[in-house]
Amino acid sequence: MKKRFYITTPIYYPSGNAHIGHAYCTTMCDILARYKRQRHFEVFFLTGTDEHGLKIEKNAKKEGKDPKTYVDEIVEKFKKLWEVMQISNDDFIRTTDERHINVVQSVFSDFIKNDDVYLGKYEGWYCIPCESFWTETQIGENHLCPDCGRPVNKEVEECYFFKTNKYLSQLTNFFSKENSIYPISKKHEMENNFIKPGLDDLCVSRTSFKWGIPILENDKHVAYVWLDALFNYLSALGFRSNDETNYNKFWKSEESEIVHVIGADITRFHTIYWPEFLTALNLRLPDRIFVHGLLMMKDGKMSKSKGNVVSPFPLVERYGVDALRYYFAREIIFGQDGQFTPEQFIERINMDLANNYGNLASRTTAMIEKYFNGIIPEFHSEITIFDKEIEKMVGDTIDDFCSKMDDLHVTEAYISVMNLLNRANKYIDETAPWILAKDETHLKELESVMSHLAYVIFNASILLMPVLVNKSKEVILSLGVKEKDIDFDNLCKPEFLNGLKVTKVNKLFPRLGAEDVEYVKSLMVSK
Ligand code: ME8
Repeated sequence: MKKRFYITTPIYYPSGNAHIGHAYCTTMCDILARYKRQRHFEVFFLTGTDEHGLKIEKNAKKEGKDPKTYVDEIVEKFKKLWEVMQISNDDFIRTTDERHINVVQSVFSDFIKNDDVYLGKYEGWYCIPCESFWTETQIGENHLCPDCGRPVNKEVEECYFFKTNKYLSQLTNFFSKENSIYPISKKHEMENNFIKPGLDDLCVSRTSFKWGIPILENDKHVAYVWLDALFNYLSALGFRSNDETNYNKFWKSEESEIVHVIGADITRFHTIYWPEFLTALNLRLPDRIFVHGLLMMKDGKMSKSKGNVVSPFPLVERYGVDALRYYFAREIIFGQDGQFTPEQFIERINMDLANNYGNLASRTTAMIEKYFNGIIPEFHSEITIFDKEIEKMVGDTIDDFCSKMDDLHVTEAYISVMNLLNRANKYIDETAPWILAKDETHLKELESVMSHLAYVIFNASILLMPVLVNKSKEVILSLGVKEKDIDFDNLCKPEFLNGLKVTKVNKLFPRLGAEDVEYVKSLMVSK
């Protein structure tokens, strides 16, 4: 069993404002990082920005700024977003950091020394927004980028080529490992579209512009932005620096699980070239590349360059960060594309957070106040006919939740928690505590219903903590649990809540209405 967990987001281009697509990916990684910390793993959670390349250079020029001033401003906005989303990253890597530049220059020197690259001439097509090279056949008659559908530019320039076929057998080996690439459909797509037809050598330097990391051996060249970007996963850990502690702990050590979470648009770079670069350097490969789906709008993929984006800031301001985080985790199945619609956003919050979780917490705490002066009665098994079922369901939900989270199936894990909460709400209707309360002879049953409900709420709230970073803690504290006892290790301990003093939970998530749908619609401006 591994003890450490290294999880990374892609490093985003600071070439426009961050939108909910970026917030989505980073939040999902944050949920996994928080969950692993709950399980007492040592976690390193990394995000950052990818700041070089032609696209950034051009955007900066358009605004009359030098590239560094341009990126500095946008990077601040990304950092602000992570603060607002309550992202718990352990580091923020910028590819303009000296620690990163050193790594890229040093690995490029190795590539030259070890004959992994050769100098040649690139003649072909380039998509600036994707920073991708394409061949004549790939772009078709209309000369459009196969990834984003935008027109590509003809490029002719001297560059270094990486010998992709030199490490083909190690790459195939990586592909054949169970779970190295998820979902499996992405693995097959890469095999069928790129590996089987034969890999072209990859152009890994550029000479037609300057905004990149200079190659020490040949100052006409800067590193290709994708080679530069991928090495962030190592430079942030102190690889080849005078302090390699984190690199040793989180990359080199077999006790660490390494997970890269990426969007479907950048699968090729992570599953083909990144393992090849690592193999060339004789370094360990990641355990898992998890490809999440993209948030789509009615008119296709949400993207900065299309301008059809929704900003997360007004959503958080009006509905709270927990609501947006929950929407991401539950509504967009992790590993599949999802469409963002205002109706579904509002409906999901109402259904799961207001009607299910919030309602259960406020009904239960109100009843414990009313019938037992706020003191949670002692837990006894098998007093009512539902006790056994609900007690078992708590245990089963925790097991199911953990196995799904360990497998990165975040959405399914939270469906399981919601099922438990739904069952508990139904349990209230079935046991009708307001009727039991009318007759003294039913006191034991009433006590049992209340202690079982409190038990469900406590256990479910702990599982919800990685997502509902504020509200679930509020609920746990309102059960009278002390902050120091909020611990995964206190799950499944029915007696743990005996005698605690609750305070009533009020309107955890207010019910939203038609005006909210209109409000969210108003944020979906297509430029
Ligand atoms: O590709 N839905 O940066 P990028 C969900 N710098 N996720 C989305 C999304 C959407 N509509 N749009 C973007 C780059 N993302 C490179 C990465 S990594 C070494 C270098 C997320 O700013 C998704 O995770 O274009 C996607 O892969 C990433 O943002 C791309 O961000």
